[in-house]
Amino acid sequence: MSTQTSKDHLIIFDTTLRDGEQSPGASMTKDEKVRIARALDRLQVDVIEAGFAIASPGDFEGVKAVAKEVRNSTVCSLARANPGDIERAAEALKPANRARIHTFIATSPIHMRDKLRMHPDEVLKTAVAAVKLARNFTDDVEFSPEDAGRSEPDFLCRVLEAVIDAGATTVNIPDTVGYTLPHMFGALIRDLRERVPNSDKAVFSVHCHNDLGLAVANSLSAVLNGARQVECTINGLGERAGNASLEEIVMAVRTRQDEFSCDTRINTREIMTCSRLVSNITGFPVQPNKAIVGANAFAHESGIHQDGVIKSRETYEIMRAEDVGWAANRMVLGKHSGRAAFKQRLAVLGIEITSEAEMNDAFQRFKELADRKKEVFDEDIQALMTEAAHAQVDERIQLHHLKVTCESGVKPVADVTISVDGEEFTASVEGGGPVDAAYAAIEQIVGSGAELLLYSVNNVTKGIDAQGEVTVRLNKGGRIVNGQGADTDIVIASAKAYLNALNRLETPSERKHPQMDAV
Ligand code: KIV
Ligand code: ZN
Repeated sequence: MSTQTSKDHLIIFDTTLRDGEQSPGASMTKDEKVRIARALDRLQVDVIEAGFAIASPGDFEGVKAVAKEVRNSTVCSLARANPGDIERAAEALKPANRARIHTFIATSPIHMRDKLRMHPDEVLKTAVAAVKLARNFTDDVEFSPEDAGRSEPDFLCRVLEAVIDAGATTVNIPDTVGYTLPHMFGALIRDLRERVPNSDKAVFSVHCHNDLGLAVANSLSAVLNGARQVECTINGLGERAGNASLEEIVMAVRTRQDEFSCDTRINTREIMTCSRLVSNITGFPVQPNKAIVGANAFAHESGIHQDGVIKSRETYEIMRAEDVGWAANRMVLGKHSGRAAFKQRLAVLGIEITSEAEMNDAFQRFKELADRKKEVFDEDIQALMTEAAHAQVDERIQLHHLKVTCESGVKPVADVTISVDGEEFTASVEGGGPVDAAYAAIEQIVGSGAELLLYSVNNVTKGIDAQGEVTVRLNKGGRIVNGQGADTDIVIASAKAYLNALNRLETPSERKHPQMDAV
């Protein structure tokens, strides 16, 4: 697919690692962020928002690690409109080839009155000071008037003019609560561009939330009205109903070039790899009927459709599956595949192995899987590498042995051996089902008292020998974490997922939320 175009460039700003990560349970480790950032770089997104550096030492390290790793995309950190946040963002971004500071303050009457408790004039002054300070660290400064969708347009115009004068190179209009409708949001963008006297000095960007299921529609309406940056996330990940989905924005603009006077530079063939990686790492499955990346997005079940597609694919297909990476990702390995073939597949999937020991461990895991499963697909390799990454982190609680006995008419019994801080414990407990018994046995040892909010199993690939990928979500004292595990045996996958979540509960939780606090 050609990326050469005489049309305007639509900048794709990916915020999976920042706004996406704000979804309860989606928080990522530094290494997980780096893996996703590499994939986003290969996807050719223009900007990667890597996190909110001031939120915690872990978030700071996450932004810094992404800044070090990424060579092509611009790396960005969020910062509230205050010196502490901006200086911390600048520090984390130091290793970046291209760095952007994204600073914001709320401008809607309700946010200014009830959250910030600030007069609009004070908000305006704070915004200008923040942009000026950020410009001391980088020439690439973005400003967002939070809750712009519910802000007064006259005040928005004043703020935007002032921050552009102060040096903002991108002004981003967020529909923070997902309240606007497409025709209104498009009109707002047009109006702002026409009324702000220096609007030609900055790129107009949009950032839409999906509370009414309109994030993509609102973003596209904005693009049709002159926005030239869209903020979005892989799989639409994000707080509440999520953010605008990157793959839907990109493919809508690409497919309807007859309507859009701009195009992106996205390498669309990398979309599926990114989608699976994000789902795999966060444990947020992709619904089968999700546009572009859902398992059914290109599947034609009904006889009439199949007949039409066989005669001429355009009868029912408006995009080609291979253009978003579906076909390219079906490469199969098996138990006779050697180290070189495995290594080459990792490279194609953008998975970087940094040491010989890591390679040995990954190859060993692959061989074990190939012994149990005839064909190993790319999805299996991604799940396997996520597991290998978990194993590398020194997890306090580790699974050593699990045996569950099931017999019709008799309650299943799980015998579990796990270690906690290197010390081994065993338990034998019966339960309502095999997974229930395994979880009860683990709890008897660990006694976490965590509440199980979600348990879900998805098959990684098709077929009865497929690996089951289990996601569990635990809540302990208001802290929510997700855990994942994959195995051809779903009871073992379930135990791995539970332990992964318990280990995540152990990591420090002290973390600021950008939109909860004031400035
Ligand atoms: O939704 C929002 O308003 C945000 C801003 C910080 C841009 O995420
Ligand atoms: Zn947001």
